[in-house]
Amino acid sequence: MALNPRSRTRLTRYTTSEFSGDTLRDALGRTLSDAECLPRKEFFEAWETARRIRRHFRGGPVLELAAGHGLLSHILLLLDRTSSHAVCVDRRKPVSFGRLHTALVARWPHLEGRIQYREEKIQAATVEPGALVVAVHACGGLTDLALDLALGAQSRVAVLPCCQVTKRGGTSGLEGWIEPQLAVDVTRLFRLRAAGYRVFAKQIPAEITPQNRLLLGEPSS
Ligand SMILES: C[S@@+](CC[C@H](N)C(=O)[O-])C[C@H]1O[C@@H](n2cnc3c(N)ncnc32)[C@H](O)[C@@H]1O
Repeated sequence: MALNPRSRTRLTRYTTSEFSGDTLRDALGRTLSDAECLPRKEFFEAWETARRIRRHFRGGPVLELAAGHGLLSHILLLLDRTSSHAVCVDRRKPVSFGRLHTALVARWPHLEGRIQYREEKIQAATVEPGALVVAVHACGGLTDLALDLALGAQSRVAVLPCCQVTKRGGTSGLEGWIEPQLAVDVTRLFRLRAAGYRVFAKQIPAEITPQNRLLLGEPSS
């Protein structure tokens, strides 16, 4: 039986057999199952997000904000070896980062030394030239801070927002037509467009998470 992609139950050695194929996704699923360090949902979410990001953006260092376990950075480097390295930023590094990093480096040694974790606030983060700024479920205004950083550096950006704050004028008055959380994300998209960005409105499968809108942007020139 296929795993429920929304489940917060951990991948464990008992889920290894669910990933029997010859694909990178299945190799990741097996490795993370053996490591027993991550909820199933986090794996499916990071995988689906990374795939979509890589269809649009390749190369450059990755800056992952509100990174939590940091799996997205690992997958982005695995999907595109032309990205030299990744920096994960979170105010608190969870135990799961160390465990998944050790397991993934053991399986893919070329990741060794290429993923740095900075335990600091997003507000203190800096963007390297040519970087790709990413943030998955950076709650509420943290997503806007990610957009601020990307816009300030004129870098490419990909966010999968959650916990939209609808009471501080972030809806552009659209809540009479569309639900307020969507209005916040539409407003974000048009903020990027107004700044001269080319934008892409994507989704990851809703069976993984209802917070599934993926906003991608890159400077148009
Ligand atoms: C909902 S979690 C998302 C984590 C991860 N991206 C994921 O998809 O599982 C939000 C993360 O934001 C981090 N966070 C909250 N405020 C922050 C801040 N000001 N600066 C950096 N990280 C922050 C939390 O520690 C937490 O790891």
